[in-house]
Amino acid sequence: MPAKLTKAVIPAAGLGTRFLPATKAMPKEMLPVVDKPAIQYVVEEAVAAGLTDILMITGRNKAALENHFDRVGELEATLLKKGDVARLRKVNYATDLADVHYVRQGDPKGLGHAVLRAKMHVGNEPFAVLLGDDIIDERDVLLSRMIEVQAERDCTVIALLEVDPSQTEMYGIATVEATDEADVVQITGLVEKPTAGTAPSNLAIIGRYVLRPEIFDILEVTEPGKGGEIQLTDALQVLAANPGIAGGVYGVVFRGRRYDTGDRLDYIKAIIQLAVDRDDLGEALRPWLRDFVSKME
Ligand code: UTP
Repeated sequence: MPAKLTKAVIPAAGLGTRFLPATKAMPKEMLPVVDKPAIQYVVEEAVAAGLTDILMITGRNKAALENHFDRVGELEATLLKKGDVARLRKVNYATDLADVHYVRQGDPKGLGHAVLRAKMHVGNEPFAVLLGDDIIDERDVLLSRMIEVQAERDCTVIALLEVDPSQTEMYGIATVEATDEADVVQITGLVEKPTAGTAPSNLAIIGRYVLRPEIFDILEVTEPGKGGEIQLTDALQVLAANPGIAGGVYGVVFRGRRYDTGDRLDYIKAIIQLAVDRDDLGEALRPWLRDFVSKME
């Protein structure tokens, strides 16, 4: 039996240029989605999948991320004095969620470069990578299924989502073959952001990976690719093309709800979709939304 997977790496060092000026002095992973920063949803997802050792790859403005998962004595004391137990519980929940460690990326040279910064912390065991701006709805299962597939096949696992063919140039895209499991495909090739009309499929890589430690050796020799950045997709392509190195690359096809909070339109959709379903907000928001839409039409 392979050892139980316990480590999650969360890259959160990108510049977030699509969200300027909001991200001028704050990481995009701290943008609130309803009333929680995006990064908290991601940490909660990791913890729910049994990953309690979290390494965050941070960049400039890391203070806000660190502070969010740390105690804040003055605020706690004030809430306690007021007897506001519900809010105090919310504040402490983020602090007590997991054992969060931090390492700086230095220059944001790409996602592959960010993941490589986890080498020392991860050591010689499989680990999960969750992008800090990508939210998977907690009502849908993804990460625990990926961990299961990794353990069964002793391979690398990537989350895939079917996208509209017009969107393939925004994602890493996979060439796949079917397996004996309906939601699992074998990945035989990967290409980062293919130009329009050249995508090998409409299966896009989304921000969840379960990797084997061999990825670090490959990242160390991966040259900058698309956009001049060291691309994780390029390193994964080496593993897909050479299944003998580390058991090959498989994809879990996700059919649930996913929000890319680094994209402005998806961010707005995420807030509306999550708020509409919330017990404390949905009842008031739903009729307002209906009215708003009818007036728009
Ligand atoms: P993105 O490409 O979405 O992030 O990376 P970005 O570069 O910040 O975005 P824009 O295009 O400028 O708006 C996906 C994830 O990888 C992390 C980001 O923080 C995000 O969670 N990342 C990206 C790093 O940690 N380091 C990098 O060098 C690049």
